[in-house]
Amino acid sequence: MTDAPAMDFGERPDTLEAIGVAIQACRRCPIGDLENRAVMGEGPRDAPLMIVGEQPGDQEDVQGRPFVGPAGQVLDAHLRAAGIERSDAYLTNAVKHFKFVRRGKRRLHQTPTAREIDICRWWIEGERAIVRPRLVLALGASAARGLLGRTVGIAKARGTPHALEDGSELWVTAHPSYLLRLDGADRAEQEGLFAADLSAVAARLAELVA
Ligand code: URA
Repeated sequence: MTDAPAMDFGERPDTLEAIGVAIQACRRCPIGDLENRAVMGEGPRDAPLMIVGEQPGDQEDVQGRPFVGPAGQVLDAHLRAAGIERSDAYLTNAVKHFKFVRRGKRRLHQTPTAREIDICRWWIEGERAIVRPRLVLALGASAARGLLGRTVGIAKARGTPHALEDGSELWVTAHPSYLLRLDGADRAEQEGLFAADLSAVAARLAELVA
C-alpha cells in the first residue's frame, strides 16, 4: 500500500503533451528556478512498463530527454541483457528538473530533498494515470519515494513487488549511477544484483501482459 497520498494541486493536465508543457512552468519547488529545463518522460502512451529515475542529469537537461547520459548507457546495457526493449517502456523521473550546484564550468548533481520529491510526485502521478503501466520500476531511493510517498531502503525493497493503489506493481532496484560510482568487486556484486532485478522484472512483465 502507498503510505501517503500525493499532494493535491488541483486540476492536472490530462495528456502527456500538456504535462510536458506544464512542467516547464512548474515552480512549486525551487529546482525549477535553476538554469535548467524540465525533462518530460518519453515512450509509448500505453507502455506496460514505466521506468522511473531520480531526476534528469546534465546531459538529459542539455538534450531534453531522460536517460541519455552515462547512467542511461548503463541502464540501456542492462535492459538489453534482460531482454527489455527500451523503446517499449515509458522512461521518466521522480523530479522533472535537474538539481545542481555550479563548480566552474561543471554542474554537479545534487540529490533532491524528500519535500522536493513529494511536490514533484504530482507530475508522475499524472503520467501514471495516463500511461497506466502494469509494472513500475523505480531506480533508486528517490524514485521509490516519488512513487510510494515514503522512504525505503533499496536492499530491503528490491526483489519483490509492492502493490500500488491502482493495482499496478512497483519494483525497486538501485540507481544505475550508483553502479558507476563503484569499482572492482563491489561493482561486480552490485551489477549482478541489478541484472537479477531486471531479469525478475522482465519475467514478471511477461506474465502480466500474457
Ligand atoms: N539519472 C536519472 O535518474 N534520470 C535520468 O534521466 C538520467 C540520470
